[in-house]
Amino acid sequence: MRKLSEMVLVTGGAGYIGSHVCIALLDAGLDVVVLDNLSNSNKVSLERVQSICRRALAFRHADIRHEEAIHDVLRSCGVTAVIHLAGLKAVGDSNVRPLTYYENNLLGTMRLVSAMKRANVKTLVFSSSATVYGIPKYLPLDEKHPLCPTNPYGRTKLAIEEMLKDLCRSDDGWRIANLRYFNPVGAHESGLVGEDPLGPPNNLLPFVAQVAIGRRETLQIWGNDYDTPDGTGVRDFIHVVDLASGHLSALRHLSRPGVLTVNLGTGNGSSVLNVVRTFEAASGRSVPYEFRERRAGDVAVCYADPTFAIEALGWKSTRSLEQMCADHWRWQLQNPDGYHGSELAKVRERSKHFRRHA
Ligand code: NAD
Ligand code: WQD
Repeated sequence: MRKLSEMVLVTGGAGYIGSHVCIALLDAGLDVVVLDNLSNSNKVSLERVQSICRRALAFRHADIRHEEAIHDVLRSCGVTAVIHLAGLKAVGDSNVRPLTYYENNLLGTMRLVSAMKRANVKTLVFSSSATVYGIPKYLPLDEKHPLCPTNPYGRTKLAIEEMLKDLCRSDDGWRIANLRYFNPVGAHESGLVGEDPLGPPNNLLPFVAQVAIGRRETLQIWGNDYDTPDGTGVRDFIHVVDLASGHLSALRHLSRPGVLTVNLGTGNGSSVLNVVRTFEAASGRSVPYEFRERRAGDVAVCYADPTFAIEALGWKSTRSLEQMCADHWRWQLQNPDGYHGSELAKVRERSKHFRRHA
């Protein structure tokens, strides 16, 4: 295992998962520089991260497609490893604007690794996705499952994974982890940092939370005729704080050259209705819902085999669905409009329970 005393570049670090990754890194004593173009995030998240950790990080407002900007950050900050989360992630949007996704995600990653090669920084943790598996041929999904993504977003992730493998074949100086996330949900326990989607949320948990707080009237549940115990879809929801700690474990375990590809999931499937019930219990609010037709492209059931993550990274998730919902709700309650219009002092006032701020 590597001992860590690194300066880590976190691309996309102002975003939902990135902000939690920054907390994990700062709390572990590492130094952090975030590079983000803020296309789907708010810099306030990074002020909150620094407030939680009581440590500073550096921020560069830049785009991963600009190789010179990345090279400059790598050199001037003395970066030793990169965690690469920057990317566009909306599946439906990727069907409408595929070239935008290939340009942002694939070309952006090409520029990033080119800059890394020039700066001789060859340790990389990449945000991949369980979406690379496509329709499950068997469950649980292990890393050997065939790869067949069903949308352009997923195909950008698979193309990047393949490109990174080729890079490692060409040069044994590279140490790369492809982390295939399942369904990240929840928020930091402080309620200061969480998911702040622009416009109507695509994903289940933020939608449920906005219904619970009254920002939206009704949850549409896409399909109740699946071959599952209650007819609704089943997913592997993973607490974003557990997911973030998986990145730290990956950095620690990137001691050998080559590519390590690992699922980050819990191994447990929860149905949409189960999530709704658990969220209602955690929030004390009701979440009215109505059943609708299945959403195009959805699968009935998807959950991880997390065994290899334990073997390869010594990592496993520890937080329950109840905790995911409770933490997601705390974030929503303390920041009803997300980062917009939420002054830190007021949010802290609402989050007095969190002892580090008392
Ligand atoms: P997010 O949108 O909150 O964060 C992504 C960040 O990247 C944002 O801050 C955005 O401004 C930034 N960004 C986008 N394009 C950029 C560019 N060209 N240059 C610089 N910055 C750019 O999303 P997230 O949920 O935190 O996801 C992070 C990563 O994890 C993404 O790569 C996503 O594909 C992947 N992922 C997410 C999920 C999920 O359900 N949230 C699941 C699997 C994989
Ligand atoms: C979960 C379940 C929906 C919203 C997506 C991406 C995947 C990955 C994670 C990035 C499904 C149901 C949802 C709603 C609902 N992202 N649902 N009403 O589709 O498993 O995965 O996010 O890599 O690539 O596809 O997550 O949260 O959208 O849906 O009934 O308003 O909730 O049908 O069964 P999904 P999700």
